[in-house]
Amino acid sequence: MTRVSFDVNGETHQLELDTRTTLLDALREHLHLTGTKKGCDHGQCGACTVIVDGRRINSCLTLAVMHQGDEITTIEGLGTPDGLHPLQAAFVEHDGYQCGYCTPGQICSAVAMLAEVKAGIPSHVTDDLNAPVRLTNAELRERMSGNICRCGAYSNIAEAISEVAGRSA
Ligand code: FES
Ligand code: FES
Repeated sequence: MTRVSFDVNGETHQLELDTRTTLLDALREHLHLTGTKKGCDHGQCGACTVIVDGRRINSCLTLAVMHQGDEITTIEGLGTPDGLHPLQAAFVEHDGYQCGYCTPGQICSAVAMLAEVKAGIPSHVTDDLNAPVRLTNAELRERMSGNICRCGAYSNIAEAISEVAGRSA
């Protein structure tokens, strides 16, 4: 067992954990923040995506003890039922989900992805590394490719993200 302390959605938490505990299990089982989902538990589906110090990561692939002092944002920290985050509202508006299991990961991923685009960080499909990055359809699909949706709501997810990207552009 070891102690670790990190910030989750603006609140500091101190936990005593088995060193083998993943960040995903620490969030779900110890802090009871069950919005972050466990899909594959192997880094392949993106359901467990959270934002750590501004970057999106698969929380099933990282140990909680590696995040001493980090700032973590989960879906619970992005909006409330009465005050949805713009991406949450857009997902509702565009019907960007069916079962909803992948949705928290999709939204956390999209929040960090839009920040990456804004910062001009290129992706594997960026043609011109000297020009400002534009969120084309190909860019969006490449950048969100780590988030799998078994219900196949991709076209509506893409519409929701594009709308928010257009709004904030
Ligand atoms: Fe982490 Fe699937 S549960 S990537
Ligand atoms: Fe069901 Fe994406 S909405 S897995």
